[in-house]
Amino acid sequence: MSQHDPVIAPSLLSADFARLGDELRRSEDAGADWHHVDVMDGHFVPNLTIGPLVVEALAKVARIPLDVHLMITDPWSYGPQFAKAGAARVGFHVEMLSGVGALPGRYADLPQRPVSEGIALCTQLREQGASPTITINPDVEVEQLAPLLPHVDMVLVMSVYPGFGGQSFIPEVLPKLRALRERYGFQGRLQIDGGVSSKTIESCAQYGCDSFVAGSALYGAQDMAAEIRLFRERIAGARS
Ligand code: DX5
Ligand code: ZN
Repeated sequence: MSQHDPVIAPSLLSADFARLGDELRRSEDAGADWHHVDVMDGHFVPNLTIGPLVVEALAKVARIPLDVHLMITDPWSYGPQFAKAGAARVGFHVEMLSGVGALPGRYADLPQRPVSEGIALCTQLREQGASPTITINPDVEVEQLAPLLPHVDMVLVMSVYPGFGGQSFIPEVLPKLRALRERYGFQGRLQIDGGVSSKTIESCAQYGCDSFVAGSALYGAQDMAAEIRLFRERIAGARS
């Protein structure tokens, strides 16, 4: 079974947006591995955040990779723009794909496109030099991911409903991580996002997670470096 080195990715969503460059540096100095960048379009989720222009500016000053999480209905138009802007990783949501199986009714009105177009987007991102990620919401079955798995480097399992920072961790999603390894033989990275803290991180690691996104728990910490060290201790404890 593959075991990737753990990655800690503070989510910029909880940073001070008036001082983004300084906040990137704070996170890097604290020992972060990647910057997680949450992109929201006001359609896929009820919130608006940042676009490719801001990512391009961040890429100029970031010393570690930018991990872009697209919570948008049109990753086909914008995903390549984020790759061009300098994102090292670009992820989009499986709920935007049709024809995999039945999704919960609340996704019915989304402008979904066939799985083949999701695969084509992964290929395009890769050709641009960005690493593709597929992301899954808490109420969607892991089976939906199956046709995408050979085409992505990482699966992001959401442990909250996306849209906002500071929500409570949903532990019921954890078996998806283990299923991806054991049932589907996925060898890439497994990421979790939403409500991750020093209290919840150990169970994520126990289920096989190797890439940990945290917004409020890290940017909101008194001492981000100490908190990242604590995260790493908890992960090591879960793995031993
Ligand atoms: C939620 C975002 C997360 C968010 C996590 O829509 O995808 O990345 O920033 O924030 P916390 O860690 O505070 O739940
Ligand atoms: Zn995110």
